[in-house]
Amino acid sequence: MSFTDTREILLKAQAGGYAVGAFNVENLEMIQAVISAAEKENSPVIIQTTPGTLKYAPPEAFAGGVRALAAGAAVPVALHLDHGNSYELTERCRNAGYSSLMIDGSLLPFEENVALSASVVKASSPLPVEAELGTVGGKEDTHSAEILYTDPALAEEFAARTGISSFAPAIGTSHGVYKAEPKLNLALLDEIRSRVSVPLVLHGTSGVPDETVRECIARGICKVNYATELRITFSAAVRRALSEMPDAFDPKKYLGEGRKAVEEKVAHLIRVCGSDGKA
Ligand code: 13P
Repeated sequence: MSFTDTREILLKAQAGGYAVGAFNVENLEMIQAVISAAEKENSPVIIQTTPGTLKYAPPEAFAGGVRALAAGAAVPVALHLDHGNSYELTERCRNAGYSSLMIDGSLLPFEENVALSASVVKASSPLPVEAELGTVGGKEDTHSAEILYTDPALAEEFAARTGISSFAPAIGTSHGVYKAEPKLNLALLDEIRSRVSVPLVLHGTSGVPDETVRECIARGICKVNYATELRITFSAAVRRALSEMPDAFDPKKYLGEGRKAVEEKVAHLIRVCGSDGKA
């Protein structure tokens, strides 16, 4: 199976009424954890990196690492650019071998977002492109915004004019750690679903109760993004390992504890998405 087209993974999920988890990774251990969890759950999986992560290591390093590890995997694995913040970065990830790209023009005026997203779709063909209209709240890397709910009529126009393969609406979620339980507008999601036919993406899912995530999937979400929960899980496990093994000096040893914890977390989230057994 191994390295696969994101479009195929998401269209299968849309037809099957489930979602595929898109998990943000920061290092090799997290890539290993996500692929290993997907194999245990017999699930397709999307690995993604933000622009900030691509400052830590370049797209070529992540593409090489994911492709090498996916080559031996028994499940479909895709690599996606999350919140691409420039045309140039999408180009670089495409050339590095990513399987899909997000261009995030959500902070731009509508017409500029349409123009930027359409230009990336055109240049990237046949790679699938995700884009956002309205703003998911909170902070992801340098991208920070208030929640601005997506206008369904504009969403329909945006999808038609850009030719995107998947669409990220803003329905009340935020990136980062929630201070209070998020209030999602599910009626708005229904309205967007009725107007936009490409797979829909839920951003800012860390901290959203599992039951609410399932409800969103039942209403048409096909890709579910998790970043913060994995970063917290990894860091907590490594912190614990270092305090329990104060003499440890081999990074493989204490980072391995982070890998184990992320693997368990991702396996759980795959089951929440309902993609277990769907590889
Ligand atoms: P959080 O994990 O911060 O909720 O967001 C994930 C996400 O949407 C990444 O694009």
